[in-house]
Parts: sequence; C-alpha cells; structure tokens
Amino acid sequence: MTSSDLWDEETAARYDEFSAEMFAPGVLEPAVEFLARLADGGPALEFAIGTGRVAIPLAARGIPVTGIELSQPMVDRLRRKVPAEQVPVVVGDMATTTVPGRFSLVYVVWNTIGNLRTQDEQVQCFRNAARHLSPGGRFVIELEVPSLRRLPPGQSAVPFEVTDRHVGFDTYDMVTQQATSHHYRRLDDGSVRYGDHNFRYIWPAECDLMARLAGLTLEQRVAGWDGSPFTSDSESHVSVWRKPLDASAHVSG
Ligand SMILES: C[S@@+](CC[C@H](N)C(=O)[O-])C[C@H]1O[C@@H](n2cnc3c(N)ncnc32)[C@H](O)[C@@H]1O
Repeated sequence: MTSSDLWDEETAARYDEFSAEMFAPGVLEPAVEFLARLADGGPALEFAIGTGRVAIPLAARGIPVTGIELSQPMVDRLRRKVPAEQVPVVVGDMATTTVPGRFSLVYVVWNTIGNLRTQDEQVQCFRNAARHLSPGGRFVIELEVPSLRRLPPGQSAVPFEVTDRHVGFDTYDMVTQQATSHHYRRLDDGSVRYGDHNFRYIWPAECDLMARLAGLTLEQRVAGWDGSPFTSDSESHVSVWRKPLDASAHVSG
C-alpha cells in the first residue's frame, strides 16, 4: 500500500489547466530535449506519467515511452490525448509496479518522487528504476531543493507563488521531513478552491545514497533542464544516475 495521495477525478480534470505554466514551450521543450538526448533512441519509462505532459512530446520525438501511474483518472485524461498503442501505461505504484521490457531511460519529473512519503518507498522507487534499466541506462529525477533556507526562525511556511489567481505555499516539518503544498486558486466564477498534497522532501545527498543502494552511480547534476550549473543557490536539480554496463555489478540491501 503506497503512502502517496491519490489524484482523484476532480484533480485530474483540472490538472492541465492548473499546471498550464508547466506545459509552456519554454518549460517543456528543454525537458523533452534533455530526456530525448539521454534516451539516445532507446525506450523510456516515466514513473508517475500523469496526463502525459512530458511523455507525449517525448514520444512524438520518436522515443517509445511507457508509463506507470497510480491514478486511473489521470490515465483517463492521458487517454483522451493518445491511444494505448502509442503510450502504454500500467496503473500502479512507481515504487513497486513492474512493466515488461528494459529501458535506456527511466525518469520521474516535477518533484514527484516526493509523493512517496516514506524513505523506504523512495529507496524502493530507486530500486524499481534500476530494475527496469538496461545496462548503461540512466535514471533521471527532477526535484526541488527543500526551501528550508527561506524559513525564518519559528515559521514553517514558504510561499512559492502569490498571484491574483493562485496563492501557493509549502509547510515543512523538519523533524519528519514531511511537507504539504497548499494551493488557493481563484476560479473563473470568482470562487476560491483549496487543494493540497503531501510529500516527503529529500536532499540531493540523500538521493545519491538511495541511488547507491540501488546500484546506480551519479553521472550528472545540473540545476535544470537547460543544463545550468547546480550551485548552493539552486532551488531545484536534475540528477542523472547510471546503471553500470556490467549488469552483474553489486546492488546493496
Ligand atoms: C505533479 S503530477 C506529475 C505528472 C506528470 N509526470 C507531469 O510532469 O505532468 C504527480 C503525479 O504523480 C502520480 N503519483 C503519485 N504518487 C504515485 C505513485 N506512488 N506511483 C505512481 N504515480 C504516482 C499522481 O497520480 C500524479 O499523476
């Protein structure tokens, strides 16, 4: 049983509209370009594929893409855009669900590994990625750096967007590494809708340790899909771990 929140019918129906800025060409194209380069013509597997924001344009580039997704309503939305023959999806938990085949690229974007809210499940997710990779294949994560440096003493909330249409902020519990994103959105009829989702935040160094437990080695860490350098001021990272070419290499645990 996964610890992830379930993305219900109502959330799925509004997902593309509420995430419009993440569909903007300036955001999406560098991500697709980065992933297509790493897939190198081989097949790719997206964990938590959602409504296909990244997978559909990646498939359009000629990369065969398969998905794993927990929410049937999100898959239903994806299906309105592409048939199963084009982008097959298995409904299940990205920490444990397996699909047939081996992939040159497995990826999980937009902070989604944090939706698994226990360390054990996050470790399992890295292992599941490694399990699906062919020798020399790569696992890519796009993940925010926890914004704890922006927390004044005694305060637990960090705003990440404040506009007329949307007020979004994260609250952090630094003892448990649990956090919640809160969204207040003004709808076209003037009403305000609240939504939240919970996540477990992870530092890059903890990701590297999880990767090592899965037998993967860090190949690259940059601040974003444009390949800009990762620095102490970076608010997110795109990290690439590689499975050894020698498939018999040791996996611990
Ligand atoms: C922020 S959306 C990202 C969707 C898509 N990857 C994108 O970039 O637009 C998070 C997605 O993760 C899915 N999800 C959450 N926990 C999951 C899990 N344990 N296994 C698989 N999918 C999960 C949700 O159902 C939702 O579709």
